[in-house]
Amino acid sequence: MEQGKRKIHIFDTTLRDGEQAPGASLTPEQKLIIAKQLAHLGVDTIEPGFPISSPGDYQAVQRISREVTGVEICGFARAVKEDIDAAVRATQDAERRRLHMFLSSSSIHLDFQLRKSRKQVIGIARQMVAYAKHFVDRVEFSPMDATRTGDEFLYEVIEAVIEEGATIINIPDTVGYAMPDEYGAMFTRVMQNVRGGRQVEYSAHCHNDLGLAVANSLAAVRAGVTHVEVTVNGVGERAGNCSLEELVMALETRKETIGVETGIRPEQIYTVSQMVSRAMNFPIAFNKPIVGRNAFQHEAGIHQDGLLKNRSTYEIMDPEQLGIPRSMIILGKHSGRHAIKHRVSQFGVQLDEGQMESFYTAFKELADKQKVVHDHQLLKLVGQTVNEVLE
Ligand code: KIV
Ligand code: ZN
Repeated sequence: MEQGKRKIHIFDTTLRDGEQAPGASLTPEQKLIIAKQLAHLGVDTIEPGFPISSPGDYQAVQRISREVTGVEICGFARAVKEDIDAAVRATQDAERRRLHMFLSSSSIHLDFQLRKSRKQVIGIARQMVAYAKHFVDRVEFSPMDATRTGDEFLYEVIEAVIEEGATIINIPDTVGYAMPDEYGAMFTRVMQNVRGGRQVEYSAHCHNDLGLAVANSLAAVRAGVTHVEVTVNGVGERAGNCSLEELVMALETRKETIGVETGIRPEQIYTVSQMVSRAMNFPIAFNKPIVGRNAFQHEAGIHQDGLLKNRSTYEIMDPEQLGIPRSMIILGKHSGRHAIKHRVSQFGVQLDEGQMESFYTAFKELADKQKVVHDHQLLKLVGQTVNEVLE
């Protein structure tokens, strides 16, 4: 870690909240492959699913806990004993683990969904955090819909769970309602006013309904949070979650201003982005920052002229540092084995001779049907050649 820079823990919830994106569900095998890639990317924590929700998710969390090393695994649970038991069991074999428990705190949720009084909610939160602490040291608590909860009750819930031993307080903007200045100020007030508020770690969790998930997460970082919950490509419920690649690259590109750092390996970003897109069958918008097809393409003559003189005239990041090949050779039916193999290797995949032969045949069949073979199609073919399971 660079001297004087605060470390921001990247908590990846692609496989839990991200998978809640309509139509994005994954098999346990796909989750395992993605989790390994996330660990390689350098995330600090992986939330691989919701163990009580289905046998498949339970199995995914259990396998990832057993097989993915060098990263903390998080079990997800409602504030309900059965959920906590399932999350505790599923993560039993993890090298390091935490338990993430959530319970709504806004009046809208209490009145219409939970149908519980505030007093009852405090009671449940206390009991369940105390219960979870019998099994797991690191307990994260999320007051769901926190940004539509009045300060007074929010403080009360947070104080109660800190007293029972919660060690990480995640304040979710569940419906993507907050504005950046409000969200940052909310953390500042909680840190200052909640009894015991200085003895815990804080985490941001933002949804993108107003397109503010990254801005809100950055505001939280500036207010002092040390954990940020993100998903690859920003996938998630409705308009999605805070995008991992956008947040990380904002922190990295402006690190002198913001003064923090993450442990993410930027050169792995593109590979994992493509992998998640392919597995979830979720296309990436052309203009998506960092990983979209056009993110480093320059059309205007004036821009191209500037770039030829010095790339920093119109580029604030180097795509090659993100694993995005700058020299985008156009691949089509006339491309030879060498160029294809080279491009595939730029995605971090080495094909052996046998794989190369079947890959080349499949490539030519596809190339015969269209002018250009795009990266996402190339990666899909790679997936079929080396790893059927992602499809
Ligand atoms: O958006 C949300 O509130 C969540 C939590 C349950 C943390 O995903
Ligand atoms: Zn969420």
